[in-house]
Amino acid sequence: MQKDMDKIISLAKRRGFVFPGSEIYGGLANSWDYGPLGHMLKQNIKNAWWKFFVQERGDMVPLDTAIIMNPKVWEASGHLQNFSDELVECKKCHHRFRSDHLLEAASAKPGYDKENAKTISELKCPDCDGSLTEPKQFNLMFKTHLGVNEDTSTVAYLRPETAAGMFVNFKNILNATRRRLPFGIAQIGKNFRNEITPGNFIFRTREFEIGEFEYFINPKEWEETFEMWLSEIKRWWQDVMQIDMNNLVWHEIPDGERAHYSKRTVDVEYKYPFGIKELHGIAYRTDFDLSRHETVSGQDLHYTDPETNERFLPHVIEPTFGIDRMLLVSLLEAYSEEEVPTAEKGESETRVVMKFPKHLAPIQVAVLPLSKKEELSGVAKDLATTLRKNFSVEYDETQSIGKRYRRQDEIGTPYCVTVDFESLEDKKVTVRDRDTMEQERVEIGDLQAYLKDKFSR
Ligand code: GAP
Repeated sequence: MQKDMDKIISLAKRRGFVFPGSEIYGGLANSWDYGPLGHMLKQNIKNAWWKFFVQERGDMVPLDTAIIMNPKVWEASGHLQNFSDELVECKKCHHRFRSDHLLEAASAKPGYDKENAKTISELKCPDCDGSLTEPKQFNLMFKTHLGVNEDTSTVAYLRPETAAGMFVNFKNILNATRRRLPFGIAQIGKNFRNEITPGNFIFRTREFEIGEFEYFINPKEWEETFEMWLSEIKRWWQDVMQIDMNNLVWHEIPDGERAHYSKRTVDVEYKYPFGIKELHGIAYRTDFDLSRHETVSGQDLHYTDPETNERFLPHVIEPTFGIDRMLLVSLLEAYSEEEVPTAEKGESETRVVMKFPKHLAPIQVAVLPLSKKEELSGVAKDLATTLRKNFSVEYDETQSIGKRYRRQDEIGTPYCVTVDFESLEDKKVTVRDRDTMEQERVEIGDLQAYLKDKFSR
C-alpha cells in the first residue's frame, strides 16, 4: 500500500501524536511537538533501542553529556570548519536551497543524462524558475552566548550530534569503569542543526534526537566488528521494529564519497513516500576523533591492552540512529486501511489501523464498559486501575462500542477489554485483538496474566 504523508500528518495531529510547533502563534516552520501519544511512542522506541543496543549486551556503557560543550570540542571534531552545506539562493524569489538537493532532484528527473551531469550553474529555481546565485558554504552550527556578554569570548554552540560527548569522556569512562576493549559508549539526546531546508514533516528538522554509540576497538578487528554491527542492526529492524525489510535500502557509500576519515560507511535508507532517503547510518571512523581530541586538548587518550601491553589509539565503529526518523518510519509502517463489514448487513466501511508492534504501541490496553451505568463503569474503572500497574491503559466510556473500537484501532491499541452486564454475573470480560478483530472471553482474575503473555510474544 502506497502510504500518503498527508493522511499520516493529519492522523498524527488529530490523535495527538505530533502537533505543529507553536501553533496558536501561527506556528514556526518545520517545528513539531510530540503530543501525548507521540511522546509515549517515542519513549517506547527509545526504551526498545536502549534495551536492545545497551541493556541486553555486556559491552556497552551509558552516558548523558551536556548539550553545550567547550567550543574547542567543535574545533577538534571539525564541525566549526567543515560542518556546512552548500547553499544557493534564487535571485528572483529569494528562496534558499541546498545545492546537493537540487542536483539530486535534477538527476532524478526522467531523461536525465548521467554522462553529462548538470552543474548547479545550469539549474533554475524549482519554485519560480529564476536564476540561482553562486553556491556558498553555510555552517549548520547553532551559535549562542554564555552569560551576559555577547562577545567572541562567550560564544558557544548547541551540539549538532551526541558523539563528541562520548569521545571527550573516553578517558573518564576507562578510569571509572575499568572497561577493556572492545566496548561501546551509548547515549540518546537532543541535537541542533541550522538546516537550510528542513521539511517532510519530522524527517528533517532543526532540533531532533539521536541515539548513537561509539564502539571502541583494536583496529585489527574493524572488519568483523563492522559486520557484527550490520547484522545486529538488521536484527533491530526485523525483530524489534518489525518493519517490512523490503522498505530498507543498504547503501554502501563508495570510495571518494565517504568522509575523509571513514574506511567504510553504510547509509541505511528507507523508501519514504517522498523518495528513498537516509534513515540512519553506520561508519567506521578509524581513530580520527580520538586523535583530533588528543591533539587539540593535549591529553593522552591512548589505551594500553592489559594482556599484550600494546599501546594504541582505539578505533571506532559508530552506528547512529535518528530517533525522530525511526518514529516517522514506525508511523508509516503501522498505517493501514482495511475494508470491514459494518453492523448493517452487506455494508462495509474503511477501518484505519495503526499496526504498531505490540511492545511499541503507546496505549496497550483500552478498557471499555458497554454502558456508562455505575454498576458497569465502577467495575471497569477498578479494572483499569489494576491494569495500569503493568500496562499503559486508556479508559473510554463515550459513544457506541463500534466507534470506540475504531478510535482504538486508529491509535494502534493492541487489546480492547469490554466490560458488559454479563461480566457482573460470570466475572469475565471480552478481549478484542486489534489485528484479527477476534474476541475472547477471559476471567477477570486471569486478565493480567493473559495480557502479559500476549505482550511477551
Ligand atoms: N555522529 C554521526 C552523526 O551525527 P548524521 O548522519 O549527521 O551522523 C545521525 O546524523 C542521524 O540523525 C541521521 O542518520 C538521521 O537519522 C538523523 N538526522 C540528521 N539530521 C537530521 C535532521 N535535521 N532532522 C532529523 N533527523 C536528523
